[in-house]
Amino acid sequence: MRKVTVNSSKKYDILIGAGLLRESGGIIARTVKPKTAVIVSDDNVFPIYGAILADSLSREGIKVVDFVFPHGESSKCLSVYGELVNRMCSEKLTRSDTVIALGGGVVGDLAGFAAATYQRGISFVQIPTSLLAAVDSSVGGKTGIDLDNGKNQVGCFHQPDVVICDTNTLSTLPPEEYSNGCAEIIKYAMIGNRKLFGSISEIPVSEQYENVIFTCVSMKRDYVEKDEFDTGCRMFLNFGHTFGHSAEALSGYTISHGKAVAMGMAVMVKACVNKGLCGGDVYDKLLKLLEQYGLPAEMPFTAADVANAAMNDKKSAGDDLRIVTADGFCSCKITTVKRNEVITWLTAGGLK
Ligand SMILES: NC(=O)c1ccc[n+]([C@@H]2O[C@H](COP(=O)([O-])OP(=O)(O)OC[C@H]3O[C@@H](n4cnc5c(N)ncnc54)[C@H](O)[C@@H]3O)[C@@H](O)[C@H]2O)c1
Repeated sequence: MRKVTVNSSKKYDILIGAGLLRESGGIIARTVKPKTAVIVSDDNVFPIYGAILADSLSREGIKVVDFVFPHGESSKCLSVYGELVNRMCSEKLTRSDTVIALGGGVVGDLAGFAAATYQRGISFVQIPTSLLAAVDSSVGGKTGIDLDNGKNQVGCFHQPDVVICDTNTLSTLPPEEYSNGCAEIIKYAMIGNRKLFGSISEIPVSEQYENVIFTCVSMKRDYVEKDEFDTGCRMFLNFGHTFGHSAEALSGYTISHGKAVAMGMAVMVKACVNKGLCGGDVYDKLLKLLEQYGLPAEMPFTAADVANAAMNDKKSAGDDLRIVTADGFCSCKITTVKRNEVITWLTAGGLK
């Protein structure tokens, strides 16, 4: 088992290892000491892993309540959030109880937001079961839900009390979701980890989950400790996301997050090459790795549409947009561009 400790406004451990789910009751009893735990999960994950977690909690004398909702982004919404907090209230949960997110990023964001807001905040535990949640969303305390007109438009920072990542759960992940997680891992490599880039080029991520997750969450821990509330350097983690989010939104969310991030990274690096900020070898290496993991590089939208969507994103500030650009192999920097310059980046990135 590997352990990463996050020293943010709340100090907590991220535990990574095979078979941890069976031990999670003991870990939660020691760290959170709840009387009751609500397991929040979706209808794909709960039937596979719910009973193992519930048994482990019951063995520690913790009362278990479960709340299972239909899988998918459309459940990360006000109505499911409302059902969850009402259920917590009817089960008489108090501030000494806990919420456990068992699932991917949708479950983690929704359960975390419910924990952050119920009775002005109760403890919560992340048990990520998707690769994306393991390397990214379960760490750092961003919680939230979507509104009809935008993703993650309501939310807050609420750090978990512990993150328990059982790498065995990744064995049941559909191939598409594996690719999505790999896109985020490639992002970590591109923003500053040549060793990770080399390692996942040589050995598939699926053959070295513990190592790769440890490396990624250690990098995320460093950014979160320096910039918990995402006003400065945590922005590096957004590499590939600015134009990626636009592609996701323009597709009506039919393009998955991972594929959109892959396209966003490719467009950005190509733009950086064409603007003379980094060498063509950076683009070639990125393209090869994306292909290796079955991820796309071409963005099927016009420069004007992507620019427009990017300026409507919540990360744009007035007339300015902060983007993460590549200035070398596995090296990035934060650049502020004016509204009217965004389109020149996209055309330099190969969009018509
Ligand atoms: N909070 C953050 O910092 C942060 C960061 C990145 C992304 N996110 C959010 O995360 C969400 C995406 O996360 P995701 O990709 O994990 O999506 P997800 O939660 O929808 O999971 C993807 C799919 O995989 C299934 N699944 C998960 N684990 C499984 C397993 N072990 N076996 C079988 N099936 C499994 C789920 O049921 C779902 O159908 C988005 O809502 C995004 O906004 C949040």
